[in-house]
Amino acid sequence: SNSLKVIFSGIQPTGIPHLGNYLGALRQWVHLQNTSDDSTTLIYSLVDLHAITLRQPPAQLRQWKRESLAMLLAIGLDPKRSTIFHQSTVPAHAELMWILSCQASTGYLGRMTQWKDKTSGEKEGSEKLKLGLFSYPVLQASDVLVHGATHVPVGEDQAQHLEFAREVARGFNHVYGDGTGPLMVPETIISSAKRVMSLTDPEAKMSKSHANPKSRILLTDSEDEIRGKTNAAVTDSNAGVSYDPVQRPGVSNLIDILYHCTKGAGFADQVALAKDLDGSSLRVVKQRVSDAIEGQVRPIRERYQEIISNDQLLDDASAEGMLKATISASATLAKVKQAIGL
Ligand code: ADP
Ligand code: NA
Repeated sequence: SNSLKVIFSGIQPTGIPHLGNYLGALRQWVHLQNTSDDSTTLIYSLVDLHAITLRQPPAQLRQWKRESLAMLLAIGLDPKRSTIFHQSTVPAHAELMWILSCQASTGYLGRMTQWKDKTSGEKEGSEKLKLGLFSYPVLQASDVLVHGATHVPVGEDQAQHLEFAREVARGFNHVYGDGTGPLMVPETIISSAKRVMSLTDPEAKMSKSHANPKSRILLTDSEDEIRGKTNAAVTDSNAGVSYDPVQRPGVSNLIDILYHCTKGAGFADQVALAKDLDGSSLRVVKQRVSDAIEGQVRPIRERYQEIISNDQLLDDASAEGMLKATISASATLAKVKQAIGL
């Protein structure tokens, strides 16, 4: 029927997922799985082809792929209900990318904020200026479009790339289709969770690629590690507790984390939560934040420890995901090739 929903989202297997990935994306993936019925198809990809836009040591990448798959299972994704797969095992993604590359505008790609941020100050001939890094929004568009996704949940940092995907789909349909096909123009669902910022540098987002490991809470961190990193989080020397992300990014990030880890903690917003905390010392606030993080991470960490040592389970999940994603991708790819005369 027309009401069928196809949800697609992805994460790079470039390290153990962190609290920002969880609150900004992964928690919503599980929620969507657990609250939708059979009319919704859920497709979640470990986007390993995106991971190689920056050079990765091969053994490290293989390990990260395995760990990331284990983590998707540990947070509660069910491979029977959701399609969970490594992107590179389904060649239709790369194949559609080439076809869409012949449509995509280099001018539009050059205006992408992430491209500009990652390459600002680089001179022609720089090691960083790789074609794959430039064109990866086309691969991202293909990821979504090849499965006919109707809804794509992402963090706000990815909204621009999704708008590009929508534009590519509309353009392709205009040139080769009847205006409504063969590509589905997806809707973007921006996660309601704010960006989680780095604990050591609260003006930057928490990221797998930040050099300082104390900047992020991993979903595998022990309780001691969570407390240690939270206690060491950079704040400021202002008196009291208040929520002001511009003037007080470190303190506000802790309040955001507490708020989102406790699903609001009974407060209407972060400002109200901060008012309630005002009068507490930062030491006490950090204690509350650690408790809240540990409450979210503990069950995930425990499940992960069981799954990561189970090779059979991981191999089976990977094979099942590949099969389901291959079937899912084949219909759109066939229609696209037909439309362009291939
Ligand atoms: P990373 O930037 O850590 O490498 P990815 O690029 O693989 O993570 O992103 C996976 C998902 O997690 C995306 O939907 C992204 O928007 C979200 N995400 C990444 N970092 C954060 C963060 N610090 N806060 C909230 N969401 C985040
Ligand atoms: Na990233």
